[in-house]
Amino acid sequence: MTSPGLDAFWMPFTPNRQFKATPRMVVSAQGLSYRTADGREVLDGTSGLWCVGAGHGHPKIAEAMKRQIDTLDFASNFQVGHPGAFALAERIAALAPPGLDRVFLVNSGSEACDTAMKIALAHARARGEGQRTLFIGRERAFHGVGFGGISVGGMQNNRRAFGSTLMRADHLQATWDNRWNGTPRAFVRGQPPTGAELADELETRLIALHDAGNIAAVIVEPFAGSTGVLVPPVGYLQRLREICTRHGLLLIFDEVITGFGRMGAMFAAQALGVVPDMILFAKTVSNGAAPLGGVIVSREIHDTLMHGPAHLSELMHGYTCSGHPLACAAGLAMLDVIEDEALLARVRDLAPHFERAVHSLADAPGVVSIRNIGLAAGVELAPAPGAPGRRGASAQAAAFDHGLLTRAPGDTLVLAPPFISTPADIDRMVDCLRRAIEHVAAEAAGAPE
Ligand SMILES: Cc1ncc(COP(=O)(O)O)c(C=O)c1O
Repeated sequence: MTSPGLDAFWMPFTPNRQFKATPRMVVSAQGLSYRTADGREVLDGTSGLWCVGAGHGHPKIAEAMKRQIDTLDFASNFQVGHPGAFALAERIAALAPPGLDRVFLVNSGSEACDTAMKIALAHARARGEGQRTLFIGRERAFHGVGFGGISVGGMQNNRRAFGSTLMRADHLQATWDNRWNGTPRAFVRGQPPTGAELADELETRLIALHDAGNIAAVIVEPFAGSTGVLVPPVGYLQRLREICTRHGLLLIFDEVITGFGRMGAMFAAQALGVVPDMILFAKTVSNGAAPLGGVIVSREIHDTLMHGPAHLSELMHGYTCSGHPLACAAGLAMLDVIEDEALLARVRDLAPHFERAVHSLADAPGVVSIRNIGLAAGVELAPAPGAPGRRGASAQAAAFDHGLLTRAPGDTLVLAPPFISTPADIDRMVDCLRRAIEHVAAEAAGAPE
């Protein structure tokens, strides 16, 4: 292909003018690495966007998709069906925590979030509780970019330009603060041992303020990823569950990045021992090879909605490509790969090395906090005076130039490597990150920012 012009494509979540002035193009990928247009190898330190757990170009997934496109390229799941969607839903239901065994398929995490919110509203209404229209999310949460998702989400920059929200929502406080109650807790390995009481404000502030009877659901990521890896304190999610159960509120886990292995279990719900009423998933379910997501729903919620005249849809909701045959083929193949290659065990085995490696960056210049869980870590830099996010962006660019793809929400550098990484791969990634951090520090020392 000749090099295309860059003007027409309005890139998502990207500083377009800056990118188009200095494009960073990747043209192929295999295993852990991308290849750039100028032939350099770049390690995929973020599994794409938290997607490619099994590594790029997995032959079993590619073969399954090729077979599928030659057999059935498209069929909708509106009133007709095709076996792939049923097979995938059945497999996922069998892997989910007990009681959650109905699966609504969509194409992305954002759609999964809006779908779950609509199911929560419809569920309340079907029970004669149509006044339950308020959602409780959490500050610094990311639930995608639909109007439902940005309403319950808590990343200010994703809301500001859009009138903030359409749905009624209020928010718990984030589970992380580098200076908690005045006590520095910047470098924490795994779940912080204290802080479970942060969940209590669901009851003492939000339910007290809004009344439980007006709340449709509470939605949280088991750990907040996109905002820079904020790990919940031990016992926090258990407390949220207890409060939701006590007050009859639905609890939704957004497992778009934790689902399908990132924490060494199929779902974070299992890794952390807390069962919600719905689970959102996307990303790793297809290893990123096709757009695919969904909502796993408790039998109770599903059955509550299975009412009304038999000739009418029980839920007036769905997307043209919900359960697309190619996406389902990719999903089914990925589930095989997770099992055949024991990827959950690989994540569990690699996690301690990953933790040691990322925490070795504590002495890198300007690093003020490091958090990690499973195969995810956030390495936070002190912001440049008056320019939050600038050092993160510079470090992300420098990392790419040193051969590592990372992401930088604000001034935090995120690592979320593929599950197939070896300890030596992790060391290479961490080494690239250190050089990028040193580069930014040298830049800051050399010139006023
Ligand atoms: C927790 C979480 N929820 C939802 C989404 C949105 O997913 P998508 O970009 O597929 O719409 C993301 C994306 O990063 C996410 O991390």
